[in-house]
Amino acid sequence: MHFKVGVLGATGIVGQKFVQMLEKHPWFKVTALAASEKRVGKKYGEEVNWLVSSDIPKYAVDMEMLPLDPKYFDVDIVFSALPADVAKEVEPEFAKAGIIVASNASAFRMDDDVPLIIPEVNPDHLKLIEVQKKNRGWEGCIVTNPNCTTIMLVISLKPLLELGLKYVKIASMQALSGAGYPGVPSLAIYDNVIPFIENEEKKVETETLKLLGRFDGMQIKMAPISVSASCHRVPVLDGHTEAVWVGFDREISVEEVSKAFESLKPLPLPTSPEKVIIVRKEKDRPQPRLDRDSGNGMSVVVGRIRKSDRNEIKYIVLGHNTVRGAAGASILNAELMVKEGLIKK
Ligand SMILES: NC(=O)c1ccc[n+]([C@@H]2O[C@H](COP(=O)([O-])OP(=O)(O)OC[C@H]3O[C@@H](n4cnc5c(N)ncnc54)[C@H](OP(=O)(O)O)[C@@H]3O)[C@@H](O)[C@H]2O)c1
Repeated sequence: MHFKVGVLGATGIVGQKFVQMLEKHPWFKVTALAASEKRVGKKYGEEVNWLVSSDIPKYAVDMEMLPLDPKYFDVDIVFSALPADVAKEVEPEFAKAGIIVASNASAFRMDDDVPLIIPEVNPDHLKLIEVQKKNRGWEGCIVTNPNCTTIMLVISLKPLLELGLKYVKIASMQALSGAGYPGVPSLAIYDNVIPFIENEEKKVETETLKLLGRFDGMQIKMAPISVSASCHRVPVLDGHTEAVWVGFDREISVEEVSKAFESLKPLPLPTSPEKVIIVRKEKDRPQPRLDRDSGNGMSVVVGRIRKSDRNEIKYIVLGHNTVRGAAGASILNAELMVKEGLIKK
């Protein structure tokens, strides 16, 4: 079984991760690459400023870059790594043309009829695709994955919901690659921390409620918890670290929370890690350099689980922002759609 796939925004930080992660994919074969207009007709290998820690995969080097128009794309799925404003215009054109769009962009994440998915957290929200197709009259559809800070947090919160989770407070320490290329100027971030990331806190606070919400057959009912985020850029290349405080409706122990983290099961999909959440016991883990590549970048790593009040626990969660937080997240979503029979040959 092979599906033909395209990558939109293929020259960017996330686009490059797609090109790398899809090289040996058992189900998906990259047959189309696109970025901005200036790349059209040129070879990917000559246009991309390759930043990923290995060579450009051979299959992509001589691929001719296409215009950002579905009529040039003979594919079943496109993975979108476009900026949100471009995605807003372009992704619907692909969906109208009958193509499944697995998007990293924020443009449609919070739309009522657009699934925002983490396969291990809310796979049932994929049923929104039917609502979307009915509403919009599209042959294809748009399915999104969360912001790169939200996804690590929500994976860690999912198993805590059943323990009586009431509120969440989070302070992020976000890697430079999260800002795309060229991103934050080196003179602004070297020897520094920037305590502001445009729109980031709102994304974390709203997307979390949708992801942990309940699908009632027509729409998502937001999760009845409160989330407050403070987001910061730090001079780390890859890997977002988050300090999290979680409050419950009863007294809670470190052991219960730790056991809950380890109970989240991986799905039988090609890009799934063996363990969704890895709990580190050392007093100084997780750390970006040591832990971001756990499970090929698809595991989320939790540590320093400790009590801060009778009903409150605090911990650190870390994940690879361009893998679990971006390209890997979209690929896993597309794999889930194949498994659920939503993408057919
Ligand atoms: N970086 C992360 O960790 C991360 C995580 C989750 C989600 N995201 C989201 O993923 C998307 C891509 O992020 P990124 O970090 O990869 O950004 P990036 O490095 O800036 O890459 C942007 C890509 O979009 C293309 N592009 C820019 N303007 C365009 C236009 N007007 N028309 C067509 N293509 C255009 C660029 O092509 P050219 O090279 O030709 O300019 C490039 O391929 C964004 O929506 C971002 O919010 C990023």
